[in-house]
Amino acid sequence: MVIFSALISVVTLHHVSAFTSLQNSQIRRNAFRSGPLYAEKKYPVVVVGTPSEALAASMALCTREVLNGLEKDDRPPVPPPQLVALLQQPHRHQIAMSEEIDSLLQNSLLFGQYQGTSPITVQNLMEAFNGVENFLSCIYDRSEDYGNPILHTATESRADKLSILANESVRNSVSYFGLNLYSNLVQSGEGKFSLPKEEASDLGTRLQTFLDAGSMDSVAISMDLPTHLAMLQANRLPKSRGVLGSTDVFAIRDDIQEGRNVDDGSSMTIEYNYDYENPMGGSDPLLCPSYGNCVVAPNTINHPVVQFEANSAHAAAYTAMRGYGMNPISSLCVASSVKAIFKEMGSFESVETGSPARFTPPPYNWDVIDRITEYCCQSRQNVVKEEGASRKKYREFGYK
Ligand SMILES: *[C@@H]1O[C@H](CO)[C@@H](O)[C@H](O)[C@H]1NC(C)=O
Repeated sequence: MVIFSALISVVTLHHVSAFTSLQNSQIRRNAFRSGPLYAEKKYPVVVVGTPSEALAASMALCTREVLNGLEKDDRPPVPPPQLVALLQQPHRHQIAMSEEIDSLLQNSLLFGQYQGTSPITVQNLMEAFNGVENFLSCIYDRSEDYGNPILHTATESRADKLSILANESVRNSVSYFGLNLYSNLVQSGEGKFSLPKEEASDLGTRLQTFLDAGSMDSVAISMDLPTHLAMLQANRLPKSRGVLGSTDVFAIRDDIQEGRNVDDGSSMTIEYNYDYENPMGGSDPLLCPSYGNCVVAPNTINHPVVQFEANSAHAAAYTAMRGYGMNPISSLCVASSVKAIFKEMGSFESVETGSPARFTPPPYNWDVIDRITEYCCQSRQNVVKEEGASRKKYREFGYK
């Protein structure tokens, strides 16, 4: 699948200023259109999950427009709703949303919500895709102006959603898949949570099957560091042979310090550069050339529920950016900046006993988008590249 226009692939955050001047005249012309800002192909993002994930995708897409040169003078009064649809699924932690959520989704998602079944079915997905397609054919003159959806969803290490996503009808209707892996980490020491080997092995095997059916450069995978390390230890980290990109790249959140899990707002891409021709460890993730690119974003400590929502937001933002062809490091910068905003501005309140507690996500306005943009530019300048980062973390976590 080729969704890289030459345009996007050169627009890393580094090039923003140079690129801005080139684009100015075109942007001015298009200033108040709610349609496409550039003559670039548009991809709807379909989120099978929670309101926070859908909102995060919209925030990331809007930030991307700013990074690509949309200037303050040329903006509509409020950030335009983005080409995002939500197929809502029951929340993993039964978290309720505050009352503001409906208007928030209305203002940020152009396609709004579709009825999601639980568990999701092939038919349910196809209906949503058709709905989105009908909508797109009304707003765009030519079918070449838009492509198949970018699909983002979270999957648990034990759930079998992957086989639904791998169904041929679904696969052929989607331009890009983003997966956020939740796994059931269990306590394995003081302050230490890890994924049991058997589960890591099972997860890796099912991911491998999913990737084997994929086309080039069509999948992004996000997960926490302990899950990644557990798959390494189980010798089941899937190998993508191009499906994850030119190298096998994963978006990894959380960190490990002195053998303990910490969520300090940092995240990294871990890339493996396999050489399948080299029998001396060329296809071994712990021996082949690999590196991590660590991104540090502002960190606020918040309620664990807010942290959870922020991590979901991180993965959805990463998928949206990768689906539009942004490189992994820049995508990660956008994702961690969206996460930082969720941690900073999201709130969680326990109401009276008996009624569910409620999460309120950050608002969708220019202040928020500007803050995300600013965090992106800061974090992009401070990316730390480290050879063999996962090897090092592996040992630090006590695996041998
Ligand atoms: C894909 O899903 C459709 C609809 O549920 C089903 O009829 C078909 O058999 C599935 N294909 C595969 C290969 O499982």
